[in-house]
Amino acid sequence: QQPLDELIASLTVDVPDHPEPGVLFRDLTPVFADGRAFARVVEGLSAPADSDPRAAALAGADRATPTFDVVVGVEARGFLLAAAVALSAGVGVVLVRKAGKLPRERISADYVLEYGTATLELHSDAIRPGQRVLVVDDVLATGGTLAAAVALVEQLGGVVTAVSVVVELAALGGRERMAPHTVHALWTT
Ligand code: PRP
Ligand code: HPA
Repeated sequence: QQPLDELIASLTVDVPDHPEPGVLFRDLTPVFADGRAFARVVEGLSAPADSDPRAAALAGADRATPTFDVVVGVEARGFLLAAAVALSAGVGVVLVRKAGKLPRERISADYVLEYGTATLELHSDAIRPGQRVLVVDDVLATGGTLAAAVALVEQLGGVVTAVSVVVELAALGGRERMAPHTVHALWTT
């Protein structure tokens, strides 16, 4: 069977100059639309212990034991991945949303975009102290988004045992920004 990174690469469509000149946008929607690829992506995102020393230490020798109690997904593309991973692992899914969407008491984290800033939010009761959390998103670029999501989870006392993404854009330095958390990327380019 084709290696997963090659499969993802073969289905991803590169879009030059989107959303602005000079940016090479990696469009993953064809990966999600392919049933076989999507299933393998969900399986890959669910097994961070295979590459994350922190998660592996928590799991011990038993890789069949999930290393997380809940999956956190980041709006919007992270939602569809996190929901699928949670369902396959038999745990719940928690939403980190863009500002203004969550209706109840919430905490906020600002993060820097390529231009300007944005805000992510999390319901204050969405994570219980000590809960083990897998954070999932589609793309790791600068890491601003995932760093903000991790900060929100940790502010509520959650223990981020793994961070999983489909694609890591290595040149943008996101992995370094996520330290001390290790990022589990299915394809690094
Ligand atoms: C994209 C992507 C990641 C983030 C990566 O989301 O889905 O969440 O950017 O960039 P970073 O590592 O530089 O922070 P976007 O904000 O475009 O939202 P969307 O999923 O709602 O389209
Ligand atoms: N593709 C998809 N999402 C992104 C990208 C990209 O190239 N860069 C930042 N978020």
